[in-house]
Amino acid sequence: MAGPKRYYVTTPIYYVNDVPHIGHAYTTLACDVLARFKRLDGYDVKFLTGTDEHGQKVEKSAQEKGIDPQTFTDQVSQRFRDLLQTMNFSADDFIRTTEERHRISVQALWEKLKQNGDIYLDNYAGWYSVRDEAFYVESELTKNADGSFTAPTGAPVEWVEEASYFFKLSAWGDRLLKFYGENPDFILPKTRRNEVMSFVEGGLNDLSVSRTTFKWGVPVPGDDAHIMYVWLDALTNYITAVGYPDENHGEFTTYWPADLHMVGKDILRFHAVYWPAFLMAAGIEPPKRVFAHGWWTNEGQKISKSVGNVIDPVELVETYGLDAVRYFLLREVPFGNDGDFSRTAMVGRMNSELANDLGNLAQRVLSMVNKNCDGAVPAHGEFSDDDKEMLASAHGLIHQLREHMDVQAFNSALETVWVLIRACNGYVDRQAPWKLKKEDPARMGTVLYVLVECIRHIALVLQPFMPHAMAKMLDLLAISDAHRSFDFLGSAHVLEPGRALPAPEGVFPRFVVEEQGA
Ligand code: MSP
Repeated sequence: MAGPKRYYVTTPIYYVNDVPHIGHAYTTLACDVLARFKRLDGYDVKFLTGTDEHGQKVEKSAQEKGIDPQTFTDQVSQRFRDLLQTMNFSADDFIRTTEERHRISVQALWEKLKQNGDIYLDNYAGWYSVRDEAFYVESELTKNADGSFTAPTGAPVEWVEEASYFFKLSAWGDRLLKFYGENPDFILPKTRRNEVMSFVEGGLNDLSVSRTTFKWGVPVPGDDAHIMYVWLDALTNYITAVGYPDENHGEFTTYWPADLHMVGKDILRFHAVYWPAFLMAAGIEPPKRVFAHGWWTNEGQKISKSVGNVIDPVELVETYGLDAVRYFLLREVPFGNDGDFSRTAMVGRMNSELANDLGNLAQRVLSMVNKNCDGAVPAHGEFSDDDKEMLASAHGLIHQLREHMDVQAFNSALETVWVLIRACNGYVDRQAPWKLKKEDPARMGTVLYVLVECIRHIALVLQPFMPHAMAKMLDLLAISDAHRSFDFLGSAHVLEPGRALPAPEGVFPRFVVEEQGA
């Protein structure tokens, strides 16, 4: 018999020296929507997020503030926990790389790599960017007028020469290519997969995995002068959180390999090349998928602290409301592409798609039910072809949605729901239930029943995207908590004719843009 359905999804762990911004909120939002979707669809879900607290960059930030790194990380990692509240993220675990469970796990992984002959001691001489916490070869860099060099990310680099342990990455190229070949959906979107494959085909160098010039990190077992490379430390969080090094019990056997590591395109190489190589070298199965999403710009401009155009999720939520922000971020661009955040586009979608298409549909239908059907779910008569078509679309929605969600195509998933919403609005206009009131009240009841059933389906499947607003809509339909999982899609028995409904209320107010100076 097949075991219970399980789903393990992770966000990157965030650097604590930054304040949470829209980029962090976006990555975690995508995971939150998937986690909620899978929970409602009957999966046992583990949704992990956390903070990346070691490394030279964090050590430097603490020094600049004149406090020790542990106090610094304690203070700033809290902001990322606060973001979970602000955005209504449903993470099951929050990992900090400064925790003891993580030190044990990273050191155990190191020992395993060492035992298997994949780690050796040598000297590193090359370029390093503290901002990216990444090594670069000179051919990747741009030379500046003053003779200094810049990384492809725009970060400054410095020349480093020191004793270092190396991971034999060069030996893993062929096995990685074989793995990508056998798992065509391991890296999504496809264009990113091609980029990673050509990078690996170009030949891999061994990777420096320890540093001796700073202290803030996990010491190499048996050689305290070395601190582990922060990416080896950070990536390991995904297995720490399921109990590594205990590979044979509990959460590890339940959830590993992870179903999805969600990352931004900037950190794909670490997740799709280094991480599976480390895991294979340690005899651990690689994750099933790494999805690289795009980056947001702000009104056409690259987001950067120095430009001062960082988008604060707290401000967005205060201005537009949480669910509208959640909706917009996943609706505006095909997931995987870059997107531009513009306030005009935000308000446009709020008013046309949330307030008009969906909000008005619910408001119109529920007001008619309230006025004309004694405020109770109407009884239905025989269904016409038009009715049957509407009901079939509602009942079929989940099958399409699963397909989209399984490849992280959030905007297509939402578009599919909006096709039904627009069809419902067309059906209301066509059937004109307000006219039927006098002419044929029984037929009016049937039409309104069909609409209420469609709205129930719409609200159920949109819960992962807009949890508060859809809870309110389901309250208006008097759907009990026990009937809000996807088990109740396609089942006509939940909506009992005669059940009293509460007085209708608007769920999505129109957003009124105040004139400047008004
Ligand atoms: N600490 C590493 C991850 C280690 S995972 C083992 C790190 N942290 S980060 O805080 O710099 O970035 C986290 C995420 O935010 C990345 O997925 C990145 O792509 C995302 N974003 C940062 N700015 C962004 C935008 N402007 N737009 C969208 N996402 C962006 O990297």
